[in-house]
Amino acid sequence: MGHPDILVNIQNLSKLFPVGGGIFRRSDVFVHAVSGFNLQIKRGESVGLVGESGCGKSTTGKLLTRLLNPTEGKIEIASKQGVIDIASLRGKKLKTFRRNVQMIFQDPYESMNPRLTIYDTVAEPLNVQGIGTITEREERITELLEKVGLTPAASFLFRYTHRISGG
Ligand SMILES: Nc1ncnc2c1ncn2[C@@H]1O[C@H](COP(=O)(O)OP(=O)(O)OP(=O)(O)O)[C@@H](O)[C@H]1O
Ligand SMILES: [Mg+2]
Repeated sequence: MGHPDILVNIQNLSKLFPVGGGIFRRSDVFVHAVSGFNLQIKRGESVGLVGESGCGKSTTGKLLTRLLNPTEGKIEIASKQGVIDIASLRGKKLKTFRRNVQMIFQDPYESMNPRLTIYDTVAEPLNVQGIGTITEREERITELLEKVGLTPAASFLFRYTHRISGG
């Protein structure tokens, strides 16, 4: 990567998904969700990926956030420790990476657990990352709900996401 301005460097990235197959039978047919993709993102730059449905945008996002591992190619990011290949991240480093590199999913019905209240949904990432004390988390969650217009926050905290209007 070398260049100090480059934050993300995607090299020859490919992801194949097996089609058909099953538990006992390996598939020999694959969908080429992403093939030979290259992209460099500089510091401070915003990049939008545009393309027809099924061209591989979400798969690229999942590879970038390490929700999926690539079939081929690599993704390097610039960090305080220098340039790292995200495939090498483990343990604590992977956890810090997950805190800094995140995805906002398209479909709320698919992304939100219907068994969790609004409070539990918003608290989950804070719990996982061990951010703040319980009281601090409660304050932060209340503040956030107020900020996005779910007021008074207290009347929304323990409701379920599917029980409030999408608008
Ligand atoms: N987990 C999976 N298993 C099998 N095939 C998959 C999987 N995820 C994606 N695909 C296939 O990979 C291709 C790319 O899908 P992807 O979701 O990345 O497209 P997209 O550009 O995000 O589309 P959209 O605009 O509809 O969101 C599609 O053919 C899709 O069916
Ligand atoms: Mg998509």
